[in-house]
Amino acid sequence: MSTLNTSGLAQLLEGLSVIESTPPFSDAHVLVNPLDVWRSALADLLARLVGCESSDAFKAIQWPNNIFNGDLSVPLPKVSPRCKPAELSSKLINEFPKDHSLFDPPLPDGVHLRFFLKLDIVPRLLIPYVLDREHTYGMGSELDTVESSKKLVVESSSPNITNEFQGKHLRSTVTGAFVARLYENKGWEVTRMTYLGDWGKPIALLYVGWGKFGSEEAYQADPVGHLLDVYHKIEEAFQPEQAATREIRDKAVKENRDEAEVQLEMEALENQGIFAERNDAFKKLEDGDETLVAFWKRVREAVIDDYQKFYDRLGIRFDDYSGESEVKAETMAEVEQVLKDKGLSEESAGAWMVDMTKLGARAGHAIIRDRGGSSTYLLRDLAAVLERSRKYSFDKMIYVVASDNSVHFTQMFKILEAMDPELEKKLQHVKFNDASKMAATLGKGYKPEAILDKCEEAMSSLPDVDADKAAAVGKSDIILKGLGTSALLVQELSTRSASAHAFDTKALPSFKLGSGPDLQYWYTKLVTLLTDHAVTTALSDEDFEALTEDDRANLLRVLAQYPEVVNATFHSLEPSGIVTYLASVTEQLSDCLDEEEGEMIVTPGFAALLEATRIVLRNGMKLLGMVPVSDLPQERADTPVAG
Ligand code: ARG
Repeated sequence: MSTLNTSGLAQLLEGLSVIESTPPFSDAHVLVNPLDVWRSALADLLARLVGCESSDAFKAIQWPNNIFNGDLSVPLPKVSPRCKPAELSSKLINEFPKDHSLFDPPLPDGVHLRFFLKLDIVPRLLIPYVLDREHTYGMGSELDTVESSKKLVVESSSPNITNEFQGKHLRSTVTGAFVARLYENKGWEVTRMTYLGDWGKPIALLYVGWGKFGSEEAYQADPVGHLLDVYHKIEEAFQPEQAATREIRDKAVKENRDEAEVQLEMEALENQGIFAERNDAFKKLEDGDETLVAFWKRVREAVIDDYQKFYDRLGIRFDDYSGESEVKAETMAEVEQVLKDKGLSEESAGAWMVDMTKLGARAGHAIIRDRGGSSTYLLRDLAAVLERSRKYSFDKMIYVVASDNSVHFTQMFKILEAMDPELEKKLQHVKFNDASKMAATLGKGYKPEAILDKCEEAMSSLPDVDADKAAAVGKSDIILKGLGTSALLVQELSTRSASAHAFDTKALPSFKLGSGPDLQYWYTKLVTLLTDHAVTTALSDEDFEALTEDDRANLLRVLAQYPEVVNATFHSLEPSGIVTYLASVTEQLSDCLDEEEGEMIVTPGFAALLEATRIVLRNGMKLLGMVPVSDLPQERADTPVAG
């Protein structure tokens, strides 16, 4: 049970004689974010020295993201819009109390003034704080208040069942799980959903392919492998027909031919060959034909089974395996009716579409129902929003989907805005670059588990420079697997969303700074160092004093930033910030341990510092979805831990 509640914290601060300088601020979350203690005091002081509102000063205080640029900083024009920064800077430096209990004298840096925490106080506040919060350190909600939790639906992964699980699906899976944990961390109630591409013409094409290339025997031996094989074969056979229609269309545009004439020619082509077989099969599927429905069900189940094994190995679960196939006809009809009633949709050459220019877009038509009468991806997605909103009454829904879907989501959100603006406001598309080398790396016909096999396999070729670290974490099978998954997760999450998918298996076996294996190494090292040391916060003055030494205090200053980092990431939804931060923790930890080289004496103060570091590292790793390998059931190698 936490003892550092409001009064507990007040008592602690009183003991450190800093209580009078920390007035309660409504914006401050001192129970969640220790830096807010300093921020509050600084806002109060700035307000007095500059003559502004303390709440404005509070908002102006920034967090430099690198302790060597200060622990907090203030862009001076933010507290005094018409000031001459150089003048204000020297005035503040002059007037800043020389013996302030929380801060050293500030340093000027252009329009910024940089503030550094007084090292005396740092361990005395941070050690009890972090050890008390433990696994909740960095979590968002105020511990003393019971906030009614808000509901989030995160949709991610969403692969297409006829095709390989692609790089963009892996990226969505990993990022979506991260977003889910981040919101849970803030106290939200989260539903994890995947939306399978399990409907439409590709399934019908697969059925046609099954008739030509399917074998019950091959299917029994390897269901998903065989289905992928059949799909690739039929795709290849279908290729010339698709090329022919594309050619007609391209030529028509060039020669500016009559639309109706072109249409007829296209239809003639689509009325024969694989085209006709596919369209016929799709019509039957939509009409509920028994054979087709049975085929589709069988495929869907086999594939989901395969996905599930993959998600399990990755430590990811979904509460709802929804799919395009599950959207109800009634809901789609409801959407179509609303669009008609609002005069937003119109019929054109047998198809129903929304003229996007009516909704403020510069150009474009969005097809709701094609000329064969089939529902489109867009119509299903619109109806799915209504169904999910009724089922989950969410406050927010986030789609973690590659940017090849951006036009789709822009159209969908625009249309929904016209239908139900309140609902539309709750939706967010979190996108990322869809380019990926993964499919090329794994070759045609791979199943999702092959992704993980490849990463685990890669771990067996760790370079010699990493031999000491590898020995320290252990080399059992289960550890190597854990390292493989961690390496992959961190590689995924450290790639910024605008950059192409990393998937680089050659880069995985490495203990370089900030990599999955390296985070695992440092975590194991901390656990090992702490074995046989009871950790207590009841430290002597001498113990605290020893923690004000530069490297140790710097490590604590980095640990103080964790809630800030989580907060910033909650707003940007860019997981790379957490990875970079954890790398800086291990870097600073390494500096502290280097100093101890030779006789590593773990004093009670040092043990408390290591424990605080272990807590932050663990919380961050968990947020990224990593399982510390030291938690895995195994015998650890007897080799002593290397420095
Ligand atoms: N299956 C789609 C694809 O692979 C992604 C689905 C995204 N989700 C959605 N609600 N449209 O591109």
